[in-house]
Amino acid sequence: MERTRWYKDAVFYQIWPRSFCDGNGDGIGDLWGVLEKLDYIASLGVTGIWFSPLYPSPNADFGYDIADYRSINPEYGDIDVFRRVLDGAHERGLKVIMDLVVNHTSSEHSWFKESRSSKDSPYHDYYIWRTGGERAGVPIPPNNWDSLFEGRAWEYEPALDEWYLHIFAKGQPDLNMDNPCVRAEVEEILRFWLDLGVDGFREDVITFTSKAEGLPDDYLMVSGARGLRFYENGPRLHEFLAQFRDNVLVHYDCMTVGEAPMITPSKALPFIEEGPNQTLDLMFHFEHMGADCLFTDYVPLPFSLRRLKAAFDRWQHKLDGRAWNALYLENHDHPRIVSRYGSEAFREKSAMMLACSYLFQKGTPFVYQGQEIGMVNTRFSTIGEVPDVSAKNQYAKRIAAGDTPEKAMELVNRAARDHARTPMQWSDEAHAGFCPADVEPWFAENPNYLEINVARDEMDPNSVLNFYRKAIRLRRALPVVREGSYRAYKRASGVLYVYAREMADERLLVLCSFADHDVRFRVPKGYGLEEGALELCNYESEGITLPMGGRVTFRPYECRVYRFGKA
Ligand code: NOJ
Repeated sequence: MERTRWYKDAVFYQIWPRSFCDGNGDGIGDLWGVLEKLDYIASLGVTGIWFSPLYPSPNADFGYDIADYRSINPEYGDIDVFRRVLDGAHERGLKVIMDLVVNHTSSEHSWFKESRSSKDSPYHDYYIWRTGGERAGVPIPPNNWDSLFEGRAWEYEPALDEWYLHIFAKGQPDLNMDNPCVRAEVEEILRFWLDLGVDGFREDVITFTSKAEGLPDDYLMVSGARGLRFYENGPRLHEFLAQFRDNVLVHYDCMTVGEAPMITPSKALPFIEEGPNQTLDLMFHFEHMGADCLFTDYVPLPFSLRRLKAAFDRWQHKLDGRAWNALYLENHDHPRIVSRYGSEAFREKSAMMLACSYLFQKGTPFVYQGQEIGMVNTRFSTIGEVPDVSAKNQYAKRIAAGDTPEKAMELVNRAARDHARTPMQWSDEAHAGFCPADVEPWFAENPNYLEINVARDEMDPNSVLNFYRKAIRLRRALPVVREGSYRAYKRASGVLYVYAREMADERLLVLCSFADHDVRFRVPKGYGLEEGALELCNYESEGITLPMGGRVTFRPYECRVYRFGKA
């Protein structure tokens, strides 16, 4: 099968199904809702959908704890309605990629139930079980690893006198990918969905599937210094991925995007560099998501545009000509980008500017549900209002460390993933039009839906939604966005992000202000703005100033995209 690398021309829309659209009136988003919205999705100009997990799950981590890999969560539909969604998407020219979560399963998966039932079960070795130690008659875990979501990374099973590993929640035991039977299962899962017609996979924390040999104590925790995390990027990762590629993926014209927290370009390249050794098409890294926090540790930092730009530049340069970037600013794991890197006071302008800051980079962009209308963070008063296991864990840690509930909630309000998981705001009707008026949605909608919603943006040619449409259309129309080289200007500026995309007969200049005030600056040499065609600007209806003596003034969060070259 020839692999066409179609993903290089793609723009993806990510759906977190529980909060997208409730089609059967029970307050939970589902595939019937997606069916209703396929035309809307296609109208954005995107060419693909990534579904966060749709599989049966007890929702310890809202679908990222899978209880059955070959079926659909009854809350969301069934295989038949999934087929209708898939066909409907394909009819509209939209590819569909599934979330593949094989670092761990749910503790409710039949494999795990078998695994914990006896050391003699053939499924016992599907998971990572170890004996621990004992101190003063109390069992102690096999090593010092902390879970990212819930206490220690080990859970004791008294009947077996063994501990199982869970890097995430207790209900998410890690699979033992060293076991060839587990890898054979993964192959079967891949084949099942590819044969059904899906076009690829987003592979959840794929770099965690190989751990350091012997599971040594975590150096980070021992030294407190920057160092290694032994539960990721282990010695067999490449081998595992090569097996999935050779036995399954090469037989389909599909794509894979691996999720890789903590990865750097040099650690990513061995997997994504094009050539015979490539094992993943794309990689989601997190480096640009740390411009205002240390994500996994919930440590807020002041926003730094320089840090953001440095991450953008690093990935654009290091991958150029060797591998392809995955571009995103939002997904279901981070608070809303306008609230983080933009400004709620200049919501619409900053939402549009942020779109330009990444949509014209080299790579394949992903847009997350609600991002295209500039949705912003919500406000939680008490931890009881917050569904996510990770937020609850961070809250409990802060309280244990002596914070008041108010102080701990400040942190949750700053960092919770739940901000991205409030119901999609379709209209100003009850519950934001997400579900029927007389039904309680599974998670409270953001009260700002009266102003921020799709229906309102549809009516306004200058809305965030219509800006995204224009930007996506422009990106797809211009070969320079796919092929051109990337060059950053104004690298030292703390308020401007300016980059160019350049090829022989066409160039693009993208200018973005991250300031909440006017900024006067000199345009980069060789780019006389009066000679370029202004393709996009977020102040379109309000008059544009042209440079005077090479200098131009940008209003708060102004952005412009100029095209030079071919008429
Ligand atoms: C990454 C996913 O994006 C996140 O939502 C999930 O909680 C963890 N992996 C564990 O599966």
